[in-house]
Amino acid sequence: MELKKIGVVGCGLMGHGIVQIAAQAGFQVFAFEAKQEFLDKGLARIEKSLSKMAAKSVEKGKASAEDAEKGAAETRARITGTLDQKDLADCDLVIEAIIEDLDLKKQLYKELGAICKPETIFATNTSSFPVAEMGEASGRPERMVGLHFFNPVQLMRLVEVVRTEKTTDEVFATAKSFGEATRKVPVACKDTPGFVVNRLLVPYMVQSLLMLERGDATAADIDAAMQFGCGHPMGPITLTDYVGLDTTLSIVEGWVERYPNEPAFAIPEILRTKVKEGKLGRKTGEGFYKWDGDKKA
Ligand code: CAA
Repeated sequence: MELKKIGVVGCGLMGHGIVQIAAQAGFQVFAFEAKQEFLDKGLARIEKSLSKMAAKSVEKGKASAEDAEKGAAETRARITGTLDQKDLADCDLVIEAIIEDLDLKKQLYKELGAICKPETIFATNTSSFPVAEMGEASGRPERMVGLHFFNPVQLMRLVEVVRTEKTTDEVFATAKSFGEATRKVPVACKDTPGFVVNRLLVPYMVQSLLMLERGDATAADIDAAMQFGCGHPMGPITLTDYVGLDTTLSIVEGWVERYPNEPAFAIPEILRTKVKEGKLGRKTGEGFYKWDGDKKA
């Protein structure tokens, strides 16, 4: 199936990046948000990222200033922000990137199933919820996949393409080709908790927080250990701030509820406390570290 028009629901941390890479790949993109202020924030993030990338390609001698600005302008022109869900009705692919709340996601899929054309493929960017349940809620489980991107979407090369038992070969192949068109490396995964990356990564982040909680080492030392001992670009505690403490908590809470006998799924008290205090990481300026915009303060 040929994709031309892409809808993205949610223009937050992940959604704005998905809007941007889809537009950079030449698709016409509708970015849907529930409120104008969220949409404005998401579009402003895209603007910032496009300027950064244009400046970088000039600096590296990959493009002239004129060509870099032309490329950014073309990307910008392919993006339409909207508060009207009906603008998604004739999209070929709708990717949902709203908060990690399964009930909210199911409600959204029910609404999308009712308004979108029959051929529309639905994709969720969920980090950890069962894709199949969203497919059932949409009323077209055979046209449902997971397209799980990584933060920051503009830079991370991977996309997990998740197929449920009902996803058709055509839908899976189309979703994979979308991933390739956005210049990501697609990996195929079954509809399992956390797919490949988060099944490995989140328990690792949890262990680092339990270590901090026990006082085994400081946050800075745990991070330095993994950065310099294992060559990771950032340590697990910085990464938790980067991903968002609320997102991390909602992933593990969901797992603990569904799989109470899996010892790798645990909820560090320190994570609950920070989230209660509204310290959600980089996006709120404080988590386990203090942040000044995109950088640690
Ligand atoms: N758009 C455009 N450019 C961006 C950008 C964005 N959104 N974010 C960063 N950049 C640019 C920076 O401006 C910087 O450019 P300069 O070199 O010109 O200054 C460049 O990218 C490198 O960034 P930084 O200097 O800030 O730092 P860095 O070299 O450490 O790279 C990083 C940043 C790519 C994020 C790297 O630290 C990294 O790979 N970290 C690990 C990230 C990771 O593990 N992500 C997965 C999270 S898990 C997840 O997403 C799944 C889930 O469901 C929970």
